[in-house]
Amino acid sequence: MRSSLPSALTYVHSLSFFLLADSRSWEPGTAAEALTEALAPAFAVFANASIPPPASLLANVSYIWSNGTSGITATSTLYYNASALAPPLQIVYNAAANRSNATGPQPFIYVEGGAAGDLASLGVAFLLANWTGADEPPLNQPPVNVSTNETLNGKGKGMSHVRAIEEQLEYTLTVISHASDGAISHRIEQVQLWADSVYIVPPFLAHTSVL
Ligand SMILES: *[C@@H]1O[C@H](CO)[C@@H](O)[C@H](O)[C@H]1NC(C)=O
Ligand SMILES: *[C@@H]1O[C@H](CO)[C@@H](O)[C@H](O)[C@H]1NC(C)=O
Ligand SMILES: *[C@@H]1O[C@H](CO)[C@@H](O)[C@H](O)[C@H]1NC(C)=O
Ligand SMILES: *[C@@H]1O[C@H](CO)[C@@H](O)[C@H](O)[C@H]1NC(C)=O
Ligand SMILES: *[C@@H]1O[C@H](CO)[C@@H](O)[C@H](O)[C@H]1NC(C)=O
Ligand SMILES: *[C@@H]1O[C@H](CO)[C@@H](O)[C@H](O)[C@H]1NC(C)=O
Ligand SMILES: *[C@@H]1O[C@H](CO)[C@@H](O)[C@H](O)[C@H]1NC(C)=O
Ligand SMILES: *[C@@H]1O[C@H](CO)[C@@H](O)[C@H](O)[C@H]1NC(C)=O
Ligand SMILES: *[C@@H]1O[C@H](CO)[C@@H](O)[C@H](O)[C@H]1NC(C)=O
Repeated sequence: MRSSLPSALTYVHSLSFFLLADSRSWEPGTAAEALTEALAPAFAVFANASIPPPASLLANVSYIWSNGTSGITATSTLYYNASALAPPLQIVYNAAANRSNATGPQPFIYVEGGAAGDLASLGVAFLLANWTGADEPPLNQPPVNVSTNETLNGKGKGMSHVRAIEEQLEYTLTVISHASDGAISHRIEQVQLWADSVYIVPPFLAHTSVL
């Protein structure tokens, strides 16, 4: 695993630059997860590491990474610092800065016709930002015309991590339709159960109870 890290890092770094200002549905959350897994594995969902992860970024962290093929595990100790987690936290910052300051259940990012499940994909990254005390964007910024910087009427932007997490959670649990057995739909317009949701929603819900 260690030997493949440099190429993985190059790849995820390109991904992060590609996606930093992006508002598509599952992509920013997926990029944040991939970046976390590559740059700071002990904080990643699939790491065999303690949960909650270290609250401070300035910590030495041991983790065991399973070799999926052989079952052989390798142990490493890495030193994490703010720069190691900066790429995923930057994705969270951008999403929080662009989130409407309207109150009530709503997803982290607004995507026209998006899949309800996808929108929770930033959940673990937001929880990590909250957990590590990452910088939050300026709150309640009036909307501006980006071509002129003129202030416009309408909803402000800029959301705290805690409120963004709580309102996404409420949206996932109470607004999105559930199947008769309680399963959370992946789509908004009708109940559909997708494999994608399994990788997105349960890690968010599970981490919410710990972080
Ligand atoms: C997993 O272990 C096998 C056997 O040691 C090795 O050939 C393979 O490269 C390892 N895979 C990864 C992803 O580390
Ligand atoms: C910011 O949010 C608006 C909707 O409120 C969306 O249309 C736009 O694409 C988002 N911009 C970025 C850069 O995410
Ligand atoms: C996770 O790590 C613990 C030791 O911290 C080990 O006992 C356990 O077997 C590991 N699980 C997996 C799936 O590698
Ligand atoms: C982390 O571990 C490295 C290598 O063992 C050591 O040099 C460093 O001082 C440790 N840092 C902290 C913050 O414990
Ligand atoms: C902090 O993390 C970055 C990215 O992993 C690394 O390049 C840098 O050397 C680290 N700095 C310290 C002081 O450990
Ligand atoms: C966010 O972090 C604060 C302070 O660490 C903590 O009290 C709170 O429970 C966290 N909230 C969520 C939703 O994780
Ligand atoms: C923003 O400014 C440009 C240039 O003056 C103008 O064409 C455009 O209509 C403005 N957009 C909004 C939403 O006011
Ligand atoms: C708008 O404001 C930003 C930040 O102050 C500045 O960098 C940018 O040049 C301004 N754009 C215009 C069109 O004035
Ligand atoms: C949202 O931001 C706008 C613009 O700054 C402000 O007028 C409004 O009061 C804010 N709304 C809330 C609920 O904080």
